[in-house]
Amino acid sequence: MTFTDSQAGVRSLETVQLTKRFGGVTAVDAATVTFQHGKVNALIGPNGSGKTTFFNCVTGMIKPDAGQVTYRGNDITRQPSHRIARAGIGRSFQLCRIFPRMTVLENMLVPVRATTLRAQLARSGSRDDIDRAREWMTRVGIEHLESTEARNLSYGQQKLLELAGVLMADPETIMLDEPAGGVNPALIGRISTLVRQLNREGKTFLIVEHNMDLVMSLSDHVIVFDRGRLIAEGPPAVVKTDRKVLEAYLGV
Ligand SMILES: Nc1ncnc2c1ncn2[C@@H]1O[C@H](COP(=O)(O)OP(=O)(O)O)[C@@H](O)[C@H]1O
Ligand SMILES: [Mg+2]
Repeated sequence: MTFTDSQAGVRSLETVQLTKRFGGVTAVDAATVTFQHGKVNALIGPNGSGKTTFFNCVTGMIKPDAGQVTYRGNDITRQPSHRIARAGIGRSFQLCRIFPRMTVLENMLVPVRATTLRAQLARSGSRDDIDRAREWMTRVGIEHLESTEARNLSYGQQKLLELAGVLMADPETIMLDEPAGGVNPALIGRISTLVRQLNREGKTFLIVEHNMDLVMSLSDHVIVFDRGRLIAEGPPAVVKTDRKVLEAYLGV
């Protein structure tokens, strides 16, 4: 991916010694991670290695027990999720977060940025929002489903809807938790093309993904977790052959 001069040296999302425990389990264990601004970053690791918990701590869904999260040099540790969203970080969920009985268009208009009910009522459904919603629906390829209730979409289409919803807030950084999980190959191809295009348009990505072909072909920088700890990072070709990574995955 191209890395323009204006983006060189820009600080992205960083964590220092980020830690989250659940009872006796340390899900994220003193993770110090730097993501690259303007790039496609992948976070990989075996099941239960703390990837989703890491995402949840970074985006304010849960509070870390220790450590810091900074975004572009600003401390965002323990800030409420709407503040983190406003700082420019959008995210999807491993399991879709959509309203099943609302139509696709209605789901798109659930404001991501508005923080009060009054602001939501004032915002939802303005001409401008509907136009933007249609643009993003077209971009992800679900415009023909505008009036369909979300529960009638295939799982892959629901993932595309969730991605389009994230894009409505125009985030500078987009965190995707297993965007290809449970999605058929044709839609995986579409998601992958979209990520590439959006990255070229300047969006930074942080992607948790199990599909190794997708990770290796899409990402510029790979970070590997095992039992809540960072065990390797670097370009995909380097990480792929790292001994610690092979051990974590293959148990050899
Ligand atoms: N809400 C929770 N309560 C208790 N344990 C949890 C909770 N969420 C995650 N865990 C545990 O934390 C560890 C990391 O889980 P998770 O972050 O979901 O990993 P990953 O996304 O890499 O599969 C696992 O051992 C999991 O069982
Ligand atoms: Mg997970």
